[in-house]
Amino acid sequence: MARKKIGLIGAGNIGGELARLLANKELGDVWLYDIPAKENFAKGKALDLEQNGAVLGYDSFVRGTSNWADLEGADVLIVTAGIPRKPGQSRDDLVATNLPIIRDVANNAKKHAPSAFTIVISNPLDAMVYEFKRVTGCAKGMAVGMAGVLDSARFQLFLAREAGVSVKDVRAMVLGGHGDDMVPVLTMTTINGVPVSSLIAKDKIGAIIERTRKGGGEIVNLMGTSAYYAPASSAVAMAEAFLFDQKRLLAGAAYLDGEFGYKDLFMGVPVVIGAKGVERIIEIPLSAEEKAMLEKSAKSVQSVVDVVKKS
Ligand code: APR
Repeated sequence: MARKKIGLIGAGNIGGELARLLANKELGDVWLYDIPAKENFAKGKALDLEQNGAVLGYDSFVRGTSNWADLEGADVLIVTAGIPRKPGQSRDDLVATNLPIIRDVANNAKKHAPSAFTIVISNPLDAMVYEFKRVTGCAKGMAVGMAGVLDSARFQLFLAREAGVSVKDVRAMVLGGHGDDMVPVLTMTTINGVPVSSLIAKDKIGAIIERTRKGGGEIVNLMGTSAYYAPASSAVAMAEAFLFDQKRLLAGAAYLDGEFGYKDLFMGVPVVIGAKGVERIIEIPLSAEEKAMLEKSAKSVQSVVDVVKKS
């Protein structure tokens, strides 16, 4: 059987970690693409990762390139092209720089990898994946934004630490836009089925929700750039769900066509990812308070999409 082809668009911090994880897991041939000025950097990273296989015992093909023709017919694209945040910046502050970049990426993706399942990570996430789908004209289930898996992971970690339990047993779902208005759904948050409210006091949960919402910014302030390990792992989980038709139920920024009452908008919702991409959106019941939070988050996303539409 032919090996799958995975194109990583952007060979920076997240791109490099994605390549490392994908090579380690032998999920397919990995092409690490970056702009011509970074071609040698991408090639060097790829070579380092292939040599790493001789030590760790994996047989993956990893190559760097700045030629989109090398991505011809890719099965999966993961897009991190663009600049990350610096301390004091919001994700929305990146729109002016990252919009022309996502358009460039989308035009090339349309030409060279029209049937790829594409996972967008570049920020502002919900607006970038919206623009990617608009420019490529891809089927609505074939483009998804990676944010919910990461935001849920942050929420899960903070809850696990507070409850004094393994992070493996915490189930949580963070919906809405990938911004400070994201919506941790408490009614769906359990510690292996045990309601989280029976293990953590209400005020502590409130503080954890706030920390989760600002979870990306906390790391930007510490490192001077944005996170890359957990974002890369989150996107790989989504790519694996597609490549192995796993039908995983994850939080992902999906194209909404009436679901949850929203139309023509990408936002974080529970999705099922399988061989057809985002195969289903699961409309979970939300409390009145959660609905109001989702509405606030949707308005924030819409305001950035409106800027994108006018640009
Ligand atoms: N095509 C491909 N790659 C590009 C393009 C382009 N048109 N323009 C810029 N790039 C590359 C940059 O050269 C850089 O190597 O994207 C890479 C981004 O890497 P980093 O600066 O290390 O950023 P990273 O931490 O990987 O984050 C990338 O993901 O989480 C988001 O907010 C984050 O938008 C940011 C993105």
